[in-house]
Amino acid sequence: MRVFVAGAAGAIGQQLLPQLTAQGHQVTASTRSPAKAARLRELGAEPVVVDGLDALAVGEAVARAEPEAVVHQMTSLAGGSDLRHFDRTFAVTNQLRTQGTDHLLAAAAAAGARRFIAQSYTGWPNIREGGPVKTEDDPLDPDPPAAQRETLAAIEYLERVVLAAPMPGIVLRYGSFYGPGASDELVGLVRKRRLPIIGDGAGVWSFLHIRDAAAATVAALEHGGPGVYNVVDDEPARVTEWLPFLARAVGAKSPRRVPVWLGRLAGGEVAVSAMTQIRGSSNARAKRELGWQPAWPSWRQGFASGLAAAEPARGAA
Ligand SMILES: NC(=O)c1ccc[n+]([C@@H]2O[C@H](COP(=O)([O-])OP(=O)(O)OC[C@H]3O[C@@H](n4cnc5c(N)ncnc54)[C@H](OP(=O)(O)O)[C@@H]3O)[C@@H](O)[C@H]2O)c1
Repeated sequence: MRVFVAGAAGAIGQQLLPQLTAQGHQVTASTRSPAKAARLRELGAEPVVVDGLDALAVGEAVARAEPEAVVHQMTSLAGGSDLRHFDRTFAVTNQLRTQGTDHLLAAAAAAGARRFIAQSYTGWPNIREGGPVKTEDDPLDPDPPAAQRETLAAIEYLERVVLAAPMPGIVLRYGSFYGPGASDELVGLVRKRRLPIIGDGAGVWSFLHIRDAAAATVAALEHGGPGVYNVVDDEPARVTEWLPFLARAVGAKSPRRVPVWLGRLAGGEVAVSAMTQIRGSSNARAKRELGWQPAWPSWRQGFASGLAAAEPARGAA
């Protein structure tokens, strides 16, 4: 298949391009940076330099590639995150999820693409009521912390327009990434003991090794029906389980424990929500309908040996 990957030089793109070319797909891959074009070529793709917020340039690049499928992997998160000013940190990502999606969808439709796949996110957007693990049929949070409202609205916008696209649209809600190129911020905070367990630490997180995110994307491209899929590992886990485990895995001291009032003072409402209230996600639909299985089924194995490795050691899975 001829595939156009928008935002291909990031953490996911680095895993996705080799997996696509290994399956025989012909890939055009975008970056804004001429300096990264050579890397995209090394990964087996034909590079194109384009800004995802420039509608005309996106239209031209996609038209030239004549793709049968378009994959939207554009985010702008490399600068790290500030939980207190969450929407500010996500401002450009939110533009890429709204305007960027509109431009890419219009370009895909004009070029006659027959499939559109877009990156979304699962974890904190889940409703924070009821059981600990949510499916794609559960509602999203009707009342997220104030600092996350714009980001959730952008996620909802992306999902709505992709599902309403003139070609089959697939939304992949990836869990929280770790793995090569995807763990530095989290591991850095743990090493510096700047990620305390707040309150009861009952927030439930769903992780995903970056290699498995790429594999699910290839599966969706090849045989996914239109719809929304949670792409997460098999083991949603409370903060009190995964955070001390990660600290041990990277040789850091145990995370500090702080009461909710202090966590709120230091990290704001988003930090308190992430540590005490958020819900995890089920991957049953992605496994059933995409025929996808994570090579890293649990963050336990992943944190122990997959922070820098793409593939599990033979016999370890
Ligand atoms: N589900 C998750 O947990 C999740 C999802 C996404 C990212 N992250 C994390 O966020 C961190 C940073 O991610 P990252 O390394 O992938 O970097 P990133 O800054 O999020 O960039 C991702 C891709 O989007 C592209 N992009 C950014 N702005 C663009 C624009 N205006 N137009 C077109 N393309 C644009 C980048 O292209 P250029 O080559 O032009 O820079 C890059 O290819 C990593 O730790 C990653 O794991 C986590």
